[in-house]
Amino acid sequence: EKGGYEHFMIKEIYEQPKAIRETTSGRLAKDDSGVILDELKWSKDDVAAIKKVAIVACGTAYHAGIVGKYYIEQLVRIPVEVDVASEFRYRAPLVDEHTLTVVISQSGETLDTLAALKEAKKLGARTLAVTNVVGSSIAREADQVIYTWAGPEIAVASTKAYTTQLIGMLMLAVYMATLRGTMSADRVREIIRGLKALPGQAHEILDNVEPIKTFAQQYGFCEDVFFIGRSLDYAVALEGSLKLKEISYIHAEAYAAGELKHGTLALIIEGVPVIALATQHDVYEKMLSNIKEVKARDAVVIGVAMQGDEQIDKYVDHAICIPATDKYLAPILTVIPLQLLAYYAAVTRGADVDKPRNLAKSVTVE
Ligand code: F6R
Repeated sequence: EKGGYEHFMIKEIYEQPKAIRETTSGRLAKDDSGVILDELKWSKDDVAAIKKVAIVACGTAYHAGIVGKYYIEQLVRIPVEVDVASEFRYRAPLVDEHTLTVVISQSGETLDTLAALKEAKKLGARTLAVTNVVGSSIAREADQVIYTWAGPEIAVASTKAYTTQLIGMLMLAVYMATLRGTMSADRVREIIRGLKALPGQAHEILDNVEPIKTFAQQYGFCEDVFFIGRSLDYAVALEGSLKLKEISYIHAEAYAAGELKHGTLALIIEGVPVIALATQHDVYEKMLSNIKEVKARDAVVIGVAMQGDEQIDKYVDHAICIPATDKYLAPILTVIPLQLLAYYAAVTRGADVDKPRNLAKSVTVE
């Protein structure tokens, strides 16, 4: 059932081009003019009535929520808050009938997420679930559902569910933006074309894993790893750090690169690996300064940048380039080398990749 792969996790990493294709299938207009989310049936007035979006989830799905916040705030210009479900449900959240609460859950069974959804409904909020399991408790409880079509995810560490959650959130943002008139037709077209190119680009990354594997073998026994990034790269850094921690048991931290000076830099010493994500053009120069800061402390820096970046090689020890894409789509590709890094580090350490200690696939208790 692992289809020739050694672990479910690596099988699922390799299934991402297909998962992306299925999640976008039938949802991108043939002429690239927009997103088709017939399951929502929202009118302009429905979307105009939304004053705030609250995104709620746990773990990796929460990290997808952070990316979702960028998407909705940037493209739809509605304020968004993101919360972990176990915090949201106990803090008397400020949601009402003008709030759209979006819960994200691969399994659709996570207890805290389900409870947060019920709480939001009780407070009168409109609710939407982004989930991978048809007929799951969360899918049944929410007013509306956008299904991700990642297929069954068996490995405890979530991979293809995350990438398809990002796609679900981006399609939602473009759909809302179209109804609110906050995006130009050209910009919509660029993103739709970018989405259509993604499966092939994900394949390209998966066809060249050797450098990542080599690095993971070389640094698999280090004690600490730092992930840094700005803007959407910071959101991906959080996910890369979680992946590494949960399956390889290496201590990892993700930091917004601009926060380094406010504490973390004290921990960056000679030989500490720093994974620096630099795919976001708007903050690229700032990111280079942060890379120089950690290099000055003799960190070993792996830069993840976009193809066509001619500078990155000069500043980092190893560069990994993702195929050139739109800034909003970059996270969907950037996370793939980070998943591979976590996977090969865990394999190098002989860890039980598919069943990390103390963790369950679906957390149906508090
Ligand atoms: C991490 C991981 C967990 C889940 C979290 C939420 O790799 O898998 O952090 O993302 O337990 O699970 P779902 O998405 O099923 O609600």
